[in-house]
Amino acid sequence: MIRSIVRQSPKFTGEEEVIVVPLFEGETRLSGSARKLDVLCRSAISDALRNNHFKSGAGETLLLRLSVPKGPAYVLLLGLGLRKEFDHEQSADAGGAASKLLKRHRFSSAHVLFHDTIENIVDEYLHSFIKGFSLAQYSFAIKAKKSKSITVKKLVFMTDASSAAETIRHCKVVVEYTEKVRDLVNQPANQMTPARMAEEVSSFAKKAGVRCRILKPKDIAKLGMGAVIDVGKGSHHEQRFIEMHYNKGKSKLPKVCLVGKAVTFDSGGISIKPWSNMNEMKGDMAGGAVVACSIAAAAKLKLPVEIVGLIPCVENLLDGLSFRPGDIVTTYSGKTIEILSTDAEGRVILADALAYAGEFSPDVIIDYATLTGAVVVALGTRIAGIMGNSQSNMDLLLRAGEQSGEPVWQLPLDRRFSEMVKGDISDFKNYSGRDGSSITAAALLGEFVDETPWVHVDIAGTFWSEKGSVPYHSKGATGYGVDLTLRYLERIAGS
Ligand code: BES
Ligand code: ZN
Ligand code: ZN
Repeated sequence: MIRSIVRQSPKFTGEEEVIVVPLFEGETRLSGSARKLDVLCRSAISDALRNNHFKSGAGETLLLRLSVPKGPAYVLLLGLGLRKEFDHEQSADAGGAASKLLKRHRFSSAHVLFHDTIENIVDEYLHSFIKGFSLAQYSFAIKAKKSKSITVKKLVFMTDASSAAETIRHCKVVVEYTEKVRDLVNQPANQMTPARMAEEVSSFAKKAGVRCRILKPKDIAKLGMGAVIDVGKGSHHEQRFIEMHYNKGKSKLPKVCLVGKAVTFDSGGISIKPWSNMNEMKGDMAGGAVVACSIAAAAKLKLPVEIVGLIPCVENLLDGLSFRPGDIVTTYSGKTIEILSTDAEGRVILADALAYAGEFSPDVIIDYATLTGAVVVALGTRIAGIMGNSQSNMDLLLRAGEQSGEPVWQLPLDRRFSEMVKGDISDFKNYSGRDGSSITAAALLGEFVDETPWVHVDIAGTFWSEKGSVPYHSKGATGYGVDLTLRYLERIAGS
C-alpha cells in the first residue's frame, strides 16, 4: 500500500529513485520541465523518442537507467496514447501500468512529472492517475507465510498546480475505500459470513462517522421481510440486514438511499450452479460492499448529502430448510413472488430492501447488485448496466461514470418488460426467461419502488477481474463502484 502521496514543484535534486514521464503519442517535442529533465539526462528521453524506441502508445513503458550527476537513477517513459482519445479510464490504466512495472522492479518510491509534459490535463486527470497507480499496488492473499511484498510506498507528483493537494486528499479516500471493497469481496465465504460482514461494516462505518444498525433474523422477520428470511434459510449462517445513516435528519440536504445486494455466497441454491467459476460467487456481496464503502468514504469527505444505506445480507445455499422452486415468498411490501429459480435470489432480497427504502422518503434510490450473468454478455467486464425510472439521475450516473473511469451504459426499461415479470399464481415471478434477462431482473426490482426516482446498477460484469489484465486490477475483486458513486454524490450535493 502506498503510504504517502505528495505534491512538489518540478525541481530535480538527483535524489529521485525514478521519475515517471508521461507522454502523448505523436508529441515528440519536449517542453518545460520535461525538457529540463532531458537536458539533465543528456538527451536520454529525446533520443528514445527520435530513435523510435518509444512511441508513447497507451500503456507503453520504457525504463531508462541513467548515470548522470544531479539526475535521477532511472527515468520511466510512460505512453498515454493519443491526446484526443485520452480519458479517465486511460489515465487510470496509465497510472496502473507505471505502478505495476515499478513494483515488479522493486522500486520503493516514485516521482511523476505531472506537469507541462501533459499540459492542461493536470487538474482533470491527476485523480484518475493516482487512483490507477495506487490500486495497482494492491494485493490479497491468505497464506501461512506472509510474503514480504515490496511495494512503492511513496509517490511524489511534480506539479505546480495548487489544486493537486486537494485532489490528492480526495483520491486517498477513494483508494482507501476501493481497497476496502476489494478486501470484503476477496475474503472467502467461510470468513465473510453475513454476520461477519455486518460486523466489519459497522466497525469501519462508525470510525468514519456513520451510524449503523444491524438487524438479526428475529428483527428482519418482525419487519416482514419474508424475502430476506426465505433466501437465507438454507444456510447455517444467519441473515443480517444492515441499515446505515449519514447526516441523518439534516432536512435541508438532498437525501439519497443506497441499496446493495449482499449474498456472501451464491451457490444457486436448489437450482444449483455448475461448478466452474462458482468460487467467484463469494463476491456476490459486492453491491453491499460498494454501498457500505461509498457511504463511509462520503462521510470521510464530509459530502453535504444525507445518505441511508440498506444492505440485505444472506448466504444462498442448499439444505433441508432451503427455499425451493415453486415457493411463493411474501415480501416486505406484501406483494408476493413465485420462485422459479432459486439462483435468481438477488432480485428477491432486493425486493424487500427497495420497498423498505421507501419508508425513508428519499429523493432518489440507487441500487448496486451483481444481479445477472446476462449483463456480462451484453456489456463485458468494464462497463456496468444501468436501468431505472429517472432519466435525470441516469444522466448524472453516465457523467459520473466518465469522470471516474468506471463507465456505465443505459439499457432500456419500459412497460414491455414489466409485463414479463407478472406472476400467474402470485403477483410476480423471479424468472421470465433468457430474453432481455438483465432488464426483466431490473423490471422486477422496479415493482418494489414507488414513485421515487430510482436507478439500478448491475455490476455483475465489473466487480471481478478473472485475469487481472486491466493495469490497475489484480486477479479477483476490482472495487468498481466507489469512485463512480462518489462522483455521483458530489453532483447531487452540488445541485
Ligand atoms: N449472482 C448471480 C449473477 C452473476 C453472474 C453475478 C455472474 C456475477 C457473475 C445471480 O444471482 C444469478 O445467479 N443470476 C442468474 C439468474 C438466472 C437464474 C435467472 C443469471 O444471471 O444467470
Ligand atoms: Zn444467483
Ligand atoms: Zn446472486
